[in-house]
Amino acid sequence: MGSSSIFFLCSVLSSFLLYVIMAQPLSTDSRWVVNESGQRVKLACVNWVSHLDVVVAEGLTKQPVDVISKGILDMGFNCVRLTWPLFLFTNDTLASITVRQSFNNLRLVESIAGLQANNPSIIDLSLISAYQAVVASLANNNVMIILDNHISRPGWCCSNFDGNGFFGDQYFNPDIWINGLTKVATMFEETNNVVAMSLRNELRGQKQNVNDWYRYMQKGAEAVHAANPNILVILSGLNYDTDLSFTLNKPVQLTFTNKLVFEVHWYSFSNGKAWETSNPNLVCGQVLGNLMRNAGFVLDQGYPLFVSEFGVDMRGTNVNDNRYFNCFMGWAAEYDLDWALWTLVGSYYFTEGVVGRNEYYGVLNWNWCDIRNSSFLQRISALQSPFRGPGYDEIHPHKLIYHPMTGLCIKRKSIYEHFVLGPCSEAEAWTYTPQNTLTIMGTYFCLQAEELGLPAKLGVICSCSSSEWETISDSKMHLSSKLADGSDVCLDINSNNVVVTNACKCLDRNSTCDPGSQWFKIIDSTRCISATKSSVRINSIFSFMAKNLLAGFSRKHDT
Ligand SMILES: *[C@@H]1O[C@H](CO)[C@@H](O)[C@H](O)[C@H]1NC(C)=O
Ligand SMILES: *[C@@H]1O[C@H](CO)[C@@H](O)[C@H](O)[C@H]1NC(C)=O
Ligand SMILES: *[C@@H]1O[C@H](CO)[C@@H](O)[C@H](O)[C@H]1NC(C)=O
Ligand SMILES: *[C@@H]1O[C@H](CO)[C@@H](O)[C@H](O)[C@H]1NC(C)=O
Repeated sequence: MGSSSIFFLCSVLSSFLLYVIMAQPLSTDSRWVVNESGQRVKLACVNWVSHLDVVVAEGLTKQPVDVISKGILDMGFNCVRLTWPLFLFTNDTLASITVRQSFNNLRLVESIAGLQANNPSIIDLSLISAYQAVVASLANNNVMIILDNHISRPGWCCSNFDGNGFFGDQYFNPDIWINGLTKVATMFEETNNVVAMSLRNELRGQKQNVNDWYRYMQKGAEAVHAANPNILVILSGLNYDTDLSFTLNKPVQLTFTNKLVFEVHWYSFSNGKAWETSNPNLVCGQVLGNLMRNAGFVLDQGYPLFVSEFGVDMRGTNVNDNRYFNCFMGWAAEYDLDWALWTLVGSYYFTEGVVGRNEYYGVLNWNWCDIRNSSFLQRISALQSPFRGPGYDEIHPHKLIYHPMTGLCIKRKSIYEHFVLGPCSEAEAWTYTPQNTLTIMGTYFCLQAEELGLPAKLGVICSCSSSEWETISDSKMHLSSKLADGSDVCLDINSNNVVVTNACKCLDRNSTCDPGSQWFKIIDSTRCISATKSSVRINSIFSFMAKNLLAGFSRKHDT
């Protein structure tokens, strides 16, 4: 790795910039989260863990809190889902332990030097004040904050038998929980950057039931709203936040409107090893079908869906994760969802008996200094800004052809050449016609299959079958066309990043086969494309095509 991979966090920071933080109560406008002027605000968050045994936001032994906060923005996130254990706010004895004592109590003596060096202003604060200091640092650095009640009793989450799973469990008394929610909502009422609270993470276990869900979640939502009417209230479903299906026919009843958001979690292991042991087209199709029935439907009901946990082993070695993530990316782009990646954390102070455990799902590496995998960040960067939504209607709606495996979109390399993948912000704007033609918006030129293994071309005669593109397979993510000889091909990407047509992969349900390179999503976008740029572009296509036609014409006459 070259020096360019050294993360900003490691460099000496001198910041003369002071952001002016705008008051930003957020609300909802149908399925979108919007700001006070009605413009969409896409929540592109990362989870920062602060609910484990030490009850201190992770990483403070490795980096100053402000350096971490700034780094979050530099990585393209605009928000943090900051977890908290209920008892930090309901048990005064716990709340008043100092950070130093808490490390000492767990015999994490060696961590104390790092804490002293990096965060001398936090080390002797009480645990509750340290939590406030982290929130203040995020706010001062212009990061939005979602306060997530992750668990009651500090520690790793979650299991069916940890006593933290559902109302009535050993550590989950609904009254204490309501008190805690009220206390947190009140404590941060003046902190404008605290934009939402998620009431409880991953409800689960033997006791879970729909009646109590309504009873207590509605009560919790009202308590939060009464204490702070500005913030969004985020509700988790049952079964580890994978199931909201019961709300389809029985809407949540609240006294307030335009503040309710639902959340869902989706990992590869939500389906065991299915991704690795079965055909990815099949699994992607089935899992997405379930996901839409269990949670995705809330979008149609006019609520935002916040994917508050997802993630992968960033070493790229987990096949189950890799296959799942191609499917995830297509889904997240298609619906332009709000989300929070699991996780920021490079390593934990102490969890499940292990000191300094490496977190391979973390965007930062073990020392909280470098980015663990910069190509991962590159890959999710297009999802960090909105494709569409209120305030993003400047031009006519168009389509982008998105490639989940790279996180890039199809664009033309130059006027006369083939198509390549590039940043979605520079991508071609397409129209997908009822005849399944993909035409460049505002022109009659279309995407055309030429030959097996060769680049897809810009076509002029768009009525033949080689310019019809169907979405096929169980995943619906292959774009398939027919060559002149009638054979089927699928859009693919070759090793030079060129968009080509190849034989369609993995349609036979072969489980050892990975179709990832052939997965594309035709997604809706209203992202602004500069008018001058696009008209220059279209003019030059015309002149290029005209030249080509003339050349072809003269060739024909020569022979
Ligand atoms: C709302 O968001 C838009 C786009 O980010 C921004 O230009 C505008 O200033 C915001 N309005 C408020 C009141 O924050
Ligand atoms: C409150 O926290 C202290 C310190 O962790 C603990 O010893 C005590 O058992 C807790 N009390 C309750 C009621 O949970
Ligand atoms: C980053 O992720 C990619 C894709 O999964 C993988 O190929 C690569 O080896 C990873 N890099 C590091 C440094 O882990
Ligand atoms: C399944 O796909 C792999 C890799 O593409 C291939 O090597 C293998 O022959 C295929 N198996 C069957 C039964 O088609």
